[in-house]
Amino acid sequence: MPEHPYVVLSCAVSLDGYLDDATPERLLLSNDADFDRVDALRASCDAILVGAGTVRADNPRLLVRSADRRAARVARGEPASPLRVVLSASGDLDRKAAVFTAAPPDSDPPDSDPPETVVFSGSLSDLLDDLAKRGVRRLMVEGGASVLTAFLAEDLADELQIATAPFLIGDPAAPRAFGPAQFAQSPGRRMILADSASLGDVGFARYLAARERSTDGDFLRLTIELSRSSPPSLRAYSVGAIVVDGDGEVISTGYSRELLRGLGDPDKNHAEEVALAKLTRGAAQPDPRLASATIYTSLEPCSPRASRPLSCTDHILAAGIPRVVLALREPALLAACDGADRLRAAGVEVVELPELAYLVRAVNDHLLQ
Ligand SMILES: NC(=O)c1ccc[n+]([C@@H]2O[C@H](COP(=O)([O-])OP(=O)(O)OC[C@H]3O[C@@H](n4cnc5c(N)ncnc54)[C@H](OP(=O)(O)O)[C@@H]3O)[C@@H](O)[C@H]2O)c1
Ligand SMILES: [Zn+2]
Repeated sequence: MPEHPYVVLSCAVSLDGYLDDATPERLLLSNDADFDRVDALRASCDAILVGAGTVRADNPRLLVRSADRRAARVARGEPASPLRVVLSASGDLDRKAAVFTAAPPDSDPPDSDPPETVVFSGSLSDLLDDLAKRGVRRLMVEGGASVLTAFLAEDLADELQIATAPFLIGDPAAPRAFGPAQFAQSPGRRMILADSASLGDVGFARYLAARERSTDGDFLRLTIELSRSSPPSLRAYSVGAIVVDGDGEVISTGYSRELLRGLGDPDKNHAEEVALAKLTRGAAQPDPRLASATIYTSLEPCSPRASRPLSCTDHILAAGIPRVVLALREPALLAACDGADRLRAAGVEVVELPELAYLVRAVNDHLLQ
């Protein structure tokens, strides 16, 4: 049985947490910049899911809007738009709804057939099994309220991307994004803030689910997903790094080119460097948790480095971290890297999980195939 797809929940809310108002007209919460972010997220997924309530209320098309993004998907051998999935127990759906009939504009690329739409009525866990068998590795869930709540209540969401519109709705008859429910992501289990930004007047935040993740593979998978927050650069890798203490708690995160005051030109920031700088900056004593920590990094820590005097290998050794887990050795493309060998020679345990390397290659397909 293939692994469950990685599940990204996506929604826009008002400041008081509503997904919509109570009127039949569709309420616009996002702005153009945020719709473009959502479009990029759609283009990065293999399937997009909504509940039947959203089809009935909003009649969405669930297509990739940008012709460039559709063309890039086709160039990668993917359909122009992801598979569309509707959750419905009743089957009460208008087959003329846009989700079944709308196709990407047939001019570019020449893909005039409407992409396939699947209606699913079983449990969420069966749904994820079914999608995995269809080759879906990343699933985007775009709402509405009951579906978002169900994924969180069943602890099946890996990530939440949430846009906050700068106004209040205040009507208890309107749908709230989440709950009420018993959530796994309770105050005792905080999520990981992987990215945040202001997109015009809309606030954007990206959270990774802090599940009970005991395996190296789970943490490394999260780390690779984190690398997607890296601002794009054609001449540099997008890397993620997560530091986990001996109790399995995530204590720091970083990604390539992440902005961190005090580090200098953010374009030169490396993921491991940022994650460690957050823990060590300005501290009089080394953080005691580092002595039993593991740093997960999607790509081998750099050893020689042109842009700054200290490499990420140097930073890891200086921090006294005893364990490193990585997915992909750095190819001899931009530099000759021997970070893994240098770390091992210094007594650091280095675990390589090459079975996840294909995910790192997918994030870095501008440099690696
Ligand atoms: N702001 C945003 O980002 C955003 C995004 C999407 C939607 N929305 C808003 O959300 C509202 C709709 O939310 P909603 O809660 O009414 O609808 P919904 O969550 O989209 O859909 C609920 C329906 O999904 C089906 N369903 C849910 N869980 C299921 C399960 N485990 N198995 C099988 N089927 C399942 C059921 O369909 P059947 O009834 O057919 O059995 C259920 O009635 C609208 O106001 C819409 O505008 C906002
Ligand atoms: Zn580095």
